[in-house]
Amino acid sequence: MLDKKVKIKDIRELGSDNYLITLRTTEQARMIRAGQFMMLKCVEEVDENPLLRRPFTIFNIYRNAGSGKPAGLELLVKDVGIGTHKLVRMKPGQTIHCLGPQGHGFKVSAEMKNRVEMACLVAGGVGIAPLYLLSRDLMQQNIKPVLFYGGANLSALVLREYFEKLGMDTYYATEDGSFGERGLVTEPLARFLDKKAHRNIRIYACGPWEMMRAVHRLSVQKKHPCDVSLEARMGCSLGACLGCVVRSKGRGGEEQYLRVCQEGPVFNSRLIDWETAPV
Ligand SMILES: Cc1cc2nc3c(=O)[nH]c(=O)nc-3n(C[C@H](O)[C@H](O)[C@H](O)COP(=O)(O)OP(=O)(O)OC[C@H]3O[C@@H](n4cnc5c(N)ncnc54)[C@H](O)[C@@H]3O)c2cc1C
Ligand code: FES
Repeated sequence: MLDKKVKIKDIRELGSDNYLITLRTTEQARMIRAGQFMMLKCVEEVDENPLLRRPFTIFNIYRNAGSGKPAGLELLVKDVGIGTHKLVRMKPGQTIHCLGPQGHGFKVSAEMKNRVEMACLVAGGVGIAPLYLLSRDLMQQNIKPVLFYGGANLSALVLREYFEKLGMDTYYATEDGSFGERGLVTEPLARFLDKKAHRNIRIYACGPWEMMRAVHRLSVQKKHPCDVSLEARMGCSLGACLGCVVRSKGRGGEEQYLRVCQEGPVFNSRLIDWETAPV
């Protein structure tokens, strides 16, 4: 993990209050694993409000056009409050404090290809952020990723062209029916899992708590392993403040708390107490 003051290369508006922010930071870009996150100070000066940094997943590694070597990071940021509002209004050339990469991301190993034929990646809204680097890792191991992406409407389904360019099968769902199937993304997922009942599938999900809970339940019903990338409000991101804990069950069913910033953000969904959302 490195703490750097890094330059903003670009901020691109994507629609529905979403922005893709590119940061120049070669050293940090070389260290990234899929599912990890960075803590960004959302303003240029350290004593400016908000004082606490905010967590953002690494969507993609930005590469040098000539050499192809990692040169920076692409982060998907949704403008939802004081910090993100200031962050997305910064200008290319300005600098911000950037701590990371942090957290335990997705584990994709060479030996997985003997056990997993296919991966279902399920995203709700900005939950798409950790799934692009994961798709690339899975493809490198010859595991076929299939994307299920849901949102309120067409303009909320940002960055889907990245996945389409990888040649992945994609299933979209919107609440207003403006793109893909009308309804929740768990519906096409459930049908897909029914059709592929005898295949060795691993499920990965990131998005609103209710969506991940529904995906977890499907994974239990259909007997597929499932990893979720959780969000919780973070204070320190260093394991000290316990602001990010999520309720879990130990091996003997006893209550325990896991820190999203340290033990996560990616967890086996069976470990989580889905009746207690993080604050
Ligand atoms: C590991 C991790 C990865 C994340 N990755 C991304 C990402 O890739 N892109 C992205 O846009 N956001 C991501 N988030 C959520 C992002 O950190 C919050 O949206 C951000 O901290 C809000 O800051 P703010 O100052 O704008 O909002 P505030 O003014 O502090 O709060 C505004 C509203 O946002 C809600 N909120 C604040 N923090 C969170 C949170 N962590 N999760 C859910 N709701 C929150 C508050 O409850 C409140 O309703 C991630 C969060 C975590 C924990
Ligand atoms: S944010 Fe402080 S312990 Fe996780």
